[in-house]
Amino acid sequence: MARVDLVTPLEDDWRDTLDGVARARSWPDSREVARLGAAVARLSAAYNDPSRATASARDAGAARLGFSFVRDVPKGAGAVRELVAGGALDLQGHEPLRVLDLGAGLGATTWGLVRALQSAGCTRPVEATWVDPDAQALEVAMAIVRARASHPARVALRARAVVQLVGPGMGLGAARFDVVLCGQLLSELDVGVPDDARLARHTELLRGWLADRLVPGGALVVVEPALRDRTRHLHRVRDVLLARGAVVFAPCLHGAPCPALVRDTDWCHEDLAVDLPRWLVPVARAAGLRHEGLTFSYLVLRAGGGPWGGLCDEVAAPPGGARLRVVSDTVRTKGKREAFLCGEFASEEVGPGLGGADLVAARARVTRLDRDESPANEAWTALRRGDIAIVSPAPRLAHPRVGMATRVLRHPSKP
Ligand SMILES: C[S@@+](CC[C@H](N)C(=O)[O-])C[C@H]1O[C@@H](n2cnc3c(N)ncnc32)[C@H](O)[C@@H]1O
Repeated sequence: MARVDLVTPLEDDWRDTLDGVARARSWPDSREVARLGAAVARLSAAYNDPSRATASARDAGAARLGFSFVRDVPKGAGAVRELVAGGALDLQGHEPLRVLDLGAGLGATTWGLVRALQSAGCTRPVEATWVDPDAQALEVAMAIVRARASHPARVALRARAVVQLVGPGMGLGAARFDVVLCGQLLSELDVGVPDDARLARHTELLRGWLADRLVPGGALVVVEPALRDRTRHLHRVRDVLLARGAVVFAPCLHGAPCPALVRDTDWCHEDLAVDLPRWLVPVARAAGLRHEGLTFSYLVLRAGGGPWGGLCDEVAAPPGGARLRVVSDTVRTKGKREAFLCGEFASEEVGPGLGGADLVAARARVTRLDRDESPANEAWTALRRGDIAIVSPAPRLAHPRVGMATRVLRHPSKP
């Protein structure tokens, strides 16, 4: 379920909301393009510097509110879109959906979930617990919730703030949640700690949240920047947790070790066709940042040991067919159209098996020659990064081609 329709830029009425919260703090609003743009450029430099990778609301509140929030809300929606669309959450009823947002900051990831739920027709309110040691960030987050109270929405958001570092306890007692969100937090934890020690600490943190904070069948959603080192760290965390029994819901269509880790130059991230709202384009330009597309990495996990599964259990392929995720931009060169896909490939060789006798999990560059374009495979032309393709017969790993008779479907065919 690619369901990109659940991921939308903030509407124009949000501009008034965010500008009002900014002005109440004497921060530049979206109309003060030069001042806000300069603040955004400073924030971007801080986030991209691996030795800092953090920015408090006191130092960078204006840029986080006026720019990052607007980008991070759709990232949250993008990370949960399959979870919301796929029936893994009960969307109907009156009982609140309980959400724990760790490193919540201004609450953007929760808002992304709320908006995706709303677009999917959810009727349940969301009751969020926001944990962050930055009291000022949480105060701004609560001000946003208050300001949005005058905008009636099908999915109402109630939030409470807990000023606290993440860890096992967090003063939450034995509380469990339907969804635990971890939006761009790992990047800020244990900065400067050697890679292996960091990996061990982060897998232990996430393992604890999967075991102790989720209701049965609940989901842990991790969002990270699309930068190569941050994303590859997330791939390694995934592999360790899956080896210890966790279930991957998305984006992966298999539970085998991450094929992107085979080569140092690979990483699997999203670049959805969701642009910044028009009102922020001048600010993005002033800061020297792009305003088109939405890049992020994500991982949705469920605890093992239950009857629930992952996205791959919800996406069906015909016998002999394969479920594959597009994990690169498509490359158009003379006489062919290619993309890297991750998922099931046909192989006679021994590899990480997927159940089918000759299917292995892999990441490979798949080619369709222009002369092989046909009604059966015409969906290949429109595929883009993040899409799920059903390809039958499964492409052969040794020679991954979409031939004239190969059937290609984008899943779901009508989102
Ligand atoms: C980049 S912001 C992300 C905010 C929000 N989750 C989002 O995705 O838009 C990272 C947040 O993590 C918080 N943070 C950093 N270290 C933390 C820790 N040890 N425990 C909890 N939160 C932390 C920061 O205060 C900051 O608000």
